[in-house]
Amino acid sequence: MSCIDKIDKNKVPRHVAIIMDGNGRWAAKRGNIRTYGHQQGVESVRSVISAAARINVQYLTLYAFSTENWNRPKYEVDALMTLMVNVIKSEEAELNNNNVRLVVIGEISSLPKRVQKEVNRIVENLSNNTGLTVVMALSYSSHWEIINAVKTIASDVKKEKIGVEDISRELFDSYLSTAKIPDPELMIRTSGEARLSNFLLWQLAYTELFFSPTLWPDFREEDFYQAICDYQNRERRFGMTSEQIQKPNLK
Ligand code: FPP
Repeated sequence: MSCIDKIDKNKVPRHVAIIMDGNGRWAAKRGNIRTYGHQQGVESVRSVISAAARINVQYLTLYAFSTENWNRPKYEVDALMTLMVNVIKSEEAELNNNNVRLVVIGEISSLPKRVQKEVNRIVENLSNNTGLTVVMALSYSSHWEIINAVKTIASDVKKEKIGVEDISRELFDSYLSTAKIPDPELMIRTSGEARLSNFLLWQLAYTELFFSPTLWPDFREEDFYQAICDYQNRERRFGMTSEQIQKPNLK
C-alpha cells in the first residue's frame, strides 16, 4: 500500500522545505563524476514537485545552491549553473500546465547573468499561477539573509521609517526573503546527514525535521509521502505540554 493512502488530507503541511543532499555520493557509488549525480537529481525534483502538488502542499522550498557552494570546484559550479538554465528551459511548460508558481530566494545578483536572465524570465512567466509555489533557494544562506535583514532594518530606523520599539518577530519576518511565505512545518534532508547547513535558520524555529537515509537522486514520490506520514504522526507542542495540546480548554 502506498503511503499516500494513509495521509490525512486535513493535516497536510502548508510548507515543506528540502535540503537535496547526496548527489555527489550517488554518482561516486556508480564510479561517475559528481555532476552526473546533479543531473540525475533533476528527476527527483520533478518527482517531489508532482507529489507536493498532488497532496495540496502550498509551498515547496528546495535548497538548490547555497552561498557556501560557490567554494566547490569551478567545473562543478559551472555545471550546476548550466543545469539550472537547462532545467528552467525544459520544465517551464510543464510547470505552467500544472499551475505552479516559482519564487527565488537568495543573492540572485551573484549568479551568472545568463542564469539571472532565465530565472527572472521564468519567475515572471509563472507569476500568475495559483497552485503550488516552488521556492528555489539559489545562492542562499541564512547568514546572508539575516545580515541583509538586519542592515535594512538598521537603515530604516536611521531614516525614521520605523522605530526601534517596532522591531518584533513579525517585523523581522517581513524583512526576510521569505516574507509572506509561511514558515515550513516540515523540513526534509536526504542522504542521512543531520544538520541544517545554513538553511532557513530563522524560519525553522518550530519546524519538524525529517532526515532520510536516501540519496537525493533516489528520492521519489513515495519517499516524500513517507516523510509526510511521519510528520502527521508527531505531536507539535510549541513549548506547551502534551495535555494542553490534547485538551485545549484545560486551564
Ligand atoms: C547536494 O548534493 C546537492 C546540490 C548542492 C545541488 C542540488 C542540485 C540539484 C538537485 C539538481 C538541479 C536542481 C535544480 C532545482 C535545477 P552534494 O553534491 O552535496 O552531494 P554529496 O554530499 O554526496 O557530495
